[in-house]
Amino acid sequence: MSQASAPTGTRTLAIDGGAPVFEQGVPFMAVGLTDSDVAAATEVLRSGMLRAASKCAALEERFAQLSGAEHAMTCANGTCALQLAYGATINPGDDVLVPAWTYIATASMVVAAGARPIFCDVHEDTYQIDLADAEKRITPKTTAIACTHLYGIPVDIDAVQALAKKHNLRVIYDAAQAHLATYKGKGLGAFGDVVTYSFYATKNLGTGEGGMVTTNDDTLARKIELLRSHGESGKYLHESIGFNYRMNDITGAIGLSKIETLPAQTDRRREVAKRYDAIIDAIDGVQRPAVAEGLEPAWHLYTCRLELEKFGVDRDTFCAALKAEGVPTAVHYPRATPRQPAFDAIKPDYPPVSDALAQRVLCIPMHHNLSDEQADKIGEAIAKVADAYRG
Ligand SMILES: Cc1ncc(COP(=O)(O)O)c(C=O)c1O
Repeated sequence: MSQASAPTGTRTLAIDGGAPVFEQGVPFMAVGLTDSDVAAATEVLRSGMLRAASKCAALEERFAQLSGAEHAMTCANGTCALQLAYGATINPGDDVLVPAWTYIATASMVVAAGARPIFCDVHEDTYQIDLADAEKRITPKTTAIACTHLYGIPVDIDAVQALAKKHNLRVIYDAAQAHLATYKGKGLGAFGDVVTYSFYATKNLGTGEGGMVTTNDDTLARKIELLRSHGESGKYLHESIGFNYRMNDITGAIGLSKIETLPAQTDRRREVAKRYDAIIDAIDGVQRPAVAEGLEPAWHLYTCRLELEKFGVDRDTFCAALKAEGVPTAVHYPRATPRQPAFDAIKPDYPPVSDALAQRVLCIPMHHNLSDEQADKIGEAIAKVADAYRG
């Protein structure tokens, strides 16, 4: 071993030539289409009706039902979904509270709307926005708060809504990673002004590209529909400036086919997460995501934190050792959002917890095809690597 030596009794790591826990490795995610998905897409191709039509409409209806929202509107992708949400709720010149630990789009689309993202720190254990920090950062121009249900774990919605009420803020939830997650028994579509989703290929509901916007507000729904399609309220009658952010029916058909298996797949992710929780709790130096009572995450990603001070190595070495054991990992994300050079021009703050997470987080395989045995062996590999590197 190059950077730390294994205590006596620890099996030799595969990275050092020992036997790996998985001979063949295990997939990080489950993507792809079933025969039914392909048949659904083929039916649309054969019909020639390629634009957004009955398939998109049916997907919207089903998605609204499953997420507990009144209006669901398909769109081209999760980034467009955010643009539509911000376009309907904020104005140029506004300040918008956003987490400093999220995918870039949550914040960059605030900039695209002509507004300023105010980066707020997050809680280290839940990865979700720290509302005490957010409240301190409110400016006279702050009109909205955008929260990401990151990794599929719902934020503390009651607390967000209370803060929003106190300061008269619009609430946008970025649920790109949280299809079918629930908060206190309700779908995420029941809360806030607008909720956005991504159907990017690797998402829990992956159609390649695609997205959805939900709301329970009739006025916002109409605004979003207009923004989505050039402000068109009648044939070639454009009552406001808008975009073309529409989905198409091939994507709609794939989504409609896939959404039927999503509830069972989400349940399976939850079972795997429970198994991981118990295993990770027993590993000194590795921490699991914290989930408050009453939440049912969608577990898009299962993200652990390494207490690096307990190990003689950095995260990359830890991940390389896991890879050699047959366990692929990913880092969501390698830098906090305001550290992206794209935001240099707005001179953002760099909240410390988010910065620290960037060094420590590590996502392990999570998908509906993982067997109990695979999940246990992934845990075994993490324990093996942790034991070997612990100082
Ligand atoms: C939290 C979050 N927001 C927004 C997006 C953007 O979605 P899309 O890639 O569909 O544009 C993503 C996609 O990775 C995401 O994870």
